[in-house]
Amino acid sequence: MVPRILSTGRYIPERCVSNDELSARLDTSDEWIFSHTGIKTRYLAADNETTSSLALRAAQAALERAGKAPGEVDLILVATGSPDYPGFPSCASIVQEQLGCSQAAAMDVVAACSGFVYAVETARSFLVSGAARLVLVIGSEVFSRILDWSDRATCILFGDGAGAVLLGTDEGLPPNGDFRRSLLMSDGSGAETLTSRQAHSPYLFMNGRRVYNFAIKIVPELVGKILSENGLALDDLRWIVPHQANARIIESTAKGLGIPLNRFYMNIARYANTSGASIPIALDEMNEKGLLKRGDWVLLVGFGAGLTAGVNLFRW
Ligand code: UT7
Repeated sequence: MVPRILSTGRYIPERCVSNDELSARLDTSDEWIFSHTGIKTRYLAADNETTSSLALRAAQAALERAGKAPGEVDLILVATGSPDYPGFPSCASIVQEQLGCSQAAAMDVVAACSGFVYAVETARSFLVSGAARLVLVIGSEVFSRILDWSDRATCILFGDGAGAVLLGTDEGLPPNGDFRRSLLMSDGSGAETLTSRQAHSPYLFMNGRRVYNFAIKIVPELVGKILSENGLALDDLRWIVPHQANARIIESTAKGLGIPLNRFYMNIARYANTSGASIPIALDEMNEKGLLKRGDWVLLVGFGAGLTAGVNLFRW
């Protein structure tokens, strides 16, 4: 059984908010935001949109592109830290019904900004074991609903959006399909570093500096480890697709590893940090632009609340 990504999709809400628009009502500036994060704009969900409605649109796009029917999907995984309902039901169950995936099991994966890489490894394991033949992995977030819009330290960082990939093991796959076992980690001693709400407030809390330091330490470690475990060198990687948290984190990682920055895909300037959705949105853009060629080694890198981190390694 050789799992591979069959197709991708994304959905971005219409409303675009620039740094200048935020600066008009907050004590911040385009200069501060761009120089500290690399962000220029972000998209925010409309009042009638939800995490599951964004997820649905991204999933529809992925299914259509693969020419697959909803009834063929065995499992739906939604990586999200901003679900429609805190607790339950899962966004995945809502998507399952609305998409018409009558045969699919459904669950959310809660690992914040690492959620998508955790979900991809879950999908890979189901496919390799034969427990599923077609899995929809979606990252979807509406962080705009859990942000304190008067807190300049957090609200400038995030955006809403959704991305999806369809993973399968169909016959007739090119022989270069190759999906390696992922590396996933968690350090719960940092659980209080980034929380979706607080005891005394309904809003997200973040110790930005601590998350930053965690990211620039763990990411190069995981990249080095997965490459050595698979007998690959940095030069073998055509693309590293990192979680889009902060352009400075990506630049620091590139420098630390000695890899040219142009092998990291970056779109944070446009979308800001869309948490669990950032990697599948990036993959869909890359796919659309024709940047992903058959046989290319691709590494997905997630990190964030938990604290958690993980990497998925595969050939396109
Ligand atoms: O997806 C995972 C989730 N989150 C992350 O990955 C975030 C990781 N962390 C970061 O990206 C960075 O730590 C931030 C971008 C959040 C912050 O950058 P920083 O360089 O660590 O800034 P800081 O928090 O140390 O704040 C420096 C100064 C402070 O002022 P004082 O105390 O030095 O006078 C802040 O009050 O910048 C001030 N500041 C701002 N100024 C203008 C904080 N936010 C803003 C703002 N505009 N939006």
